[in-house]
Amino acid sequence: MTALVFTSEQAQHALVGALPKAELHVHIEGTLEPELMFALATRNNIALPYKSVQAVRDAYAFDNLQSFLDIYYAGTQVLLCEQDFFDMTWAYLVRAHSDHVVHSELFFDPQSHTSRGVDMGVVIHGIHRACAQAQTQWGMSSALILCFLRHLSEADAIQTLQAAKPYRSLLAGVGLDSSEQGHPPEKFQRVFAQAQALGLKLVAHAGEEGPPSYVWQALDVLGVQRIDHGVRAMEDADLVARLAAQRTPLTVCPLSNKALQVTPDLAKHPLKAMLDAGLCAMLNSDDPAYFGGYLNDNFNATISALNLQPLDVLTLVRNSFEASFVAPDLRAQYQLRADQAFATWARDHA
Ligand code: ADE
Ligand code: ZN
Repeated sequence: MTALVFTSEQAQHALVGALPKAELHVHIEGTLEPELMFALATRNNIALPYKSVQAVRDAYAFDNLQSFLDIYYAGTQVLLCEQDFFDMTWAYLVRAHSDHVVHSELFFDPQSHTSRGVDMGVVIHGIHRACAQAQTQWGMSSALILCFLRHLSEADAIQTLQAAKPYRSLLAGVGLDSSEQGHPPEKFQRVFAQAQALGLKLVAHAGEEGPPSYVWQALDVLGVQRIDHGVRAMEDADLVARLAAQRTPLTVCPLSNKALQVTPDLAKHPLKAMLDAGLCAMLNSDDPAYFGGYLNDNFNATISALNLQPLDVLTLVRNSFEASFVAPDLRAQYQLRADQAFATWARDHA
């Protein structure tokens, strides 16, 4: 008999910490903590428009996605050299490892760097070198997903894909992020077809601020395998049925949704309804340095706000591995480790 309800906050935290997890929706530039931002600014002789680390944190009060993106893109300006990308990625991986993340799929926004004269190879090699070190040091697996900025043109995205071709072997897939409203997925139909022809996996942010029709387009026009966010899909019953029938994963980010006023009250977040509808949803941190929490913080805040119970948590973790781009044998190993960790926790909390 497993422990079917949490009897204390301590038991909840113990389960969240004990379970190995995959994180599938984290923008590596969104993991840049203000302390490292200042250190890199000093190293690269770049003036920041903030007096202190606290002043940076004080600026993190967002009305919507765009108000966040303006600050987020400004923060990327301190990233110039391969070592900067390594240091940022390594800091995230150390933090994720402490949250018992065993597999991470990292988004990066090359256009926010190449537009400043930083070479594509500098970006990809710096991020990749940190991932390789995490694999060697802890056996932690990871994958890189190159995101196109949807507020820029498709021609710019096509040029970016061309520039990334020499590094094809270091990439798992492509994604679509940045300002959603007014930039529908169909704008990127050709570049996604080109990425698919290169054998890359396809994902896209859709239904974060944008309407359910953007989720339909991401599925039917771009042919994505996963939807990032997708919370607004819940407004369309036919779409929910389609996502459930196909087990299309949705990479949900509750603390991001709260910070960007998508669902200001976490108690009203649709995650539980998504699970009840049979969707393959799981939790992610999106831009943890900006939204006040890494992966386990997202778990604990969401569990408390929605009164989730132990088997819901196991479902979220199992979904994270089901939705990941790891090879089937590694996926099975991760699922088994999660099931074993759950069983041990349940025995200790019976
Ligand atoms: N880029 C970084 N975080 C993002 C988000 N939550 N939505 C869209 N683009 C992003
Ligand atoms: Zn995102």
